[in-house]
Amino acid sequence: MTIALDTRPLDVLSDFPAIPAGWAYLDTAATSQKPRPVIDAITRGYGETYATVHRGVYQRSADMTFAYEAARERVAKFLGGAANEVVFVRGATEGINLVAQCWAGTHLKAGDRILLSTLEHHSNIVPWQMVAERIGAEIDVVPLTADQRIDLDAMAAMLTPAHKLVALAHVSNVLGSVLDARRAADLAHGVGAKILLDGCQAVPRMAVDMAALDCDFYVFSGHKLYGPTGIGVLWGRYELLDAMPPYQGGGSMIDKVTFAKTTYAPPPGRFEAGTPHIIGVVGLHAAIDYVDGIGLDRIHAHETALVRQAREALSKLNSVKLFGPDDSAGIVSFAVEGVHPHDVATILDEGNVAIRAGHHCAQPLMEALGVPATARASFGVYNGADDIAALVAGIERVTRIFG
Ligand SMILES: Cc1ncc(COP(=O)(O)O)c(C=O)c1O
Repeated sequence: MTIALDTRPLDVLSDFPAIPAGWAYLDTAATSQKPRPVIDAITRGYGETYATVHRGVYQRSADMTFAYEAARERVAKFLGGAANEVVFVRGATEGINLVAQCWAGTHLKAGDRILLSTLEHHSNIVPWQMVAERIGAEIDVVPLTADQRIDLDAMAAMLTPAHKLVALAHVSNVLGSVLDARRAADLAHGVGAKILLDGCQAVPRMAVDMAALDCDFYVFSGHKLYGPTGIGVLWGRYELLDAMPPYQGGGSMIDKVTFAKTTYAPPPGRFEAGTPHIIGVVGLHAAIDYVDGIGLDRIHAHETALVRQAREALSKLNSVKLFGPDDSAGIVSFAVEGVHPHDVATILDEGNVAIRAGHHCAQPLMEALGVPATARASFGVYNGADDIAALVAGIERVTRIFG
């Protein structure tokens, strides 16, 4: 795809009431700010239309159930899957834990192998370690290329029929590197492994399509997609979900309960025990409508252009070292020579620029990069060239202060 280098604002800043004038919010990879339509949907949900779902026979509850299931249909359309393949979870973390416990925990045996990469978020490392330890499976780690992408040539050489699952970030939350997800899926399937993609940083930044990616599981968090916290999605191929036992028991996930034996509902209900985050789901629906209204191709082009402009401006500062490839999606990690990233972030904050500093829940990646932490600027639909100017001015101030 040709990227139009256009860093003009998408003209949506006024949709975001929590971004005051003059504040450069550059921490969207951690969580995005919320547009008015999402805030309104949540307010309306609690203030006008609220009731439980899947339980009440009264009209209000039937309407709320309809809205809840309409959101599931909307997510399915957004991802290019079927509604019965969409499981509502608390976020990407819960989605990965669910697959680790319910799929890997029941389909893997001692000696089987799981393949991860060096750049994974802890959410896509620790759940696999927990299940691997329990069943005696082994974990292998794909290294990075020189330009800090997941090295798919190395992955091709590492994969064996003992690998049953590959779990990779679609976009790195630290480096912004974009995975060639289809090639990764083809490689995994070539040895009979399933592939899970952690789409947390991809879904807000590019159009995704489950059929085109040919993945088996895909997870993302609503709060990074301009939606509420506490809601996320696990998409899984229906036949895989159908062959998985639930990992939480309770209301809604059952077919029939007796003390002698309980049978479970089909997916996705089987994995949604208890009263769900009803208004979270409603807010997520509004968020998907919002980003689709702008257009994910436009968002992708805009953020890629911002990254290029930021990298170009930062590379002119002698003290700055950049991480990640030039075509990163929406995220730029960097270091300022001789200054701890926390000090960089604190001084930037004094100039009304909000960035993230730390290990970004990716300690193995920090080790591979040979740093304890990085500073990270990440963009959203509301950012523009003025935010990059504020970032650069802030870093110039950092270098002046630290000499
Ligand atoms: C790539 C990636 N994976 C997983 C997560 C975990 O998301 P959550 O904390 O919303 O479950 C994050 C959040 O930073 C992320 O960036």
